[in-house]
Amino acid sequence: MSVLVTGGAGFIGSHTVVELLNEGYDVAVVDNLSNSKAESLRRVEEITGKKVRFYEVDICDEKALTEVFDKEKDVTDVIHFAGYKAVGESVQKPLMYFENNIYGTIILCKVMAEHGVKNIVFSSSATVYGNPKEIPITEACPKGEITNPYGRSKSMIEEILADLYVSDPAWHVMVLRYFNPIGAHKSGKIGEDPNGIPNNLMPYITQVAIGKLPKLNVFGNDYDTPDGTGIRDYIHVTDLAKGHVKAIEHIGEEEGVRVYNLGTGRGYSVLEVVHAFEDACGKKVPYEIAPRRAGDIATCYADPSKAKRELGWEAVNGIEEMCKDSWNWQSNNPNGFEE
Ligand code: NAD
Ligand code: UFG
Repeated sequence: MSVLVTGGAGFIGSHTVVELLNEGYDVAVVDNLSNSKAESLRRVEEITGKKVRFYEVDICDEKALTEVFDKEKDVTDVIHFAGYKAVGESVQKPLMYFENNIYGTIILCKVMAEHGVKNIVFSSSATVYGNPKEIPITEACPKGEITNPYGRSKSMIEEILADLYVSDPAWHVMVLRYFNPIGAHKSGKIGEDPNGIPNNLMPYITQVAIGKLPKLNVFGNDYDTPDGTGIRDYIHVTDLAKGHVKAIEHIGEEEGVRVYNLGTGRGYSVLEVVHAFEDACGKKVPYEIAPRRAGDIATCYADPSKAKRELGWEAVNGIEEMCKDSWNWQSNNPNGFEE
């Protein structure tokens, strides 16, 4: 059996490929490198001492994707990371997001079905809960009002996959709703390498710490939280990656669509993350309080107990390791994957 990973050159994908290879899986990656570099997969091979077959292919290109599946006859399972993920950009370019994320997924599922491959693990997001009705958030929490096209694309894909299963019960669908992945592989060889100025908190902090950006803007200190700044469930990317290996191990066990929160169950405020990062890197991170960012919510953290119960998975790394490993990656690779 082989696992085909779409978007496998990206941040979460590359860490997942490492964990799959370490567990002895045979892996093929499809990525169009729109938000990543092939160097990440070279480093995956360096970390694991194993080979990955890489296809530089756009999942929207049905013909090219068909050729990949024609060649990869041993593929039984797909982990589907490929997609655009920048919330702000999705507001500016909704059609681009719907085309790449939704059309791309439709083409992928069509080609999978034509090749008799009907096990799919999908990268969804806690963003589908909107402003959650309950904290901690269980999978039973209803989906909320989603404030941007990126989030809507994730929610719609969840529904498309559910409809697919209704049409053909041979499909096994695992929807993984990630909370906030940060950190990097312990080796410092792979990590998050955003284009331009980062949107997300941790890559912004690491770039301030390394001197590329002057200071962090903390978006709001008047939320209803103990220190007034937003609370999120940060999860080490290696823990998240291991969650995908567990999903693959368990995917055939039950019929239907299974949804899991992948988080730690512990929330940290923006200022708590800043201070944990300062402890990890031994430097001050200058910051300033700025207005709230549109679309942000006060508090978001998971109840991850379903994944523990049913998949035997739980996050083991704390905020100290997340900060230490983010810093190790950034300080060893100040320009990301560029030499
Ligand atoms: P990433 O941008 O690093 O990885 C996505 C990869 O998909 C990139 O390598 C990109 O080149 C590739 N890609 C994009 N469109 C493609 C296409 N049409 N064909 C082939 N390849 C394509 O992002 P990531 O942080 O690793 O996220 C992976 C997945 O997890 C995404 O679907 C994202 O929406 C989801 N997710 C991420 C977060 C997060 O905070 N990082 C949170 C929740 C969900
Ligand atoms: N923040 C700042 N300053 C920054 C960046 C972020 O104060 O420069 C704050 C935000 O206001 C928020 C927290 O840091 O309180 C985390 O923000 P991120 O942008 O890192 O993450 P979000 O929780 O907004 O969103 C992330 C992903 C989404 C995903 C969501 C799931 O970007 O794709 O997690 O919970 F949907």
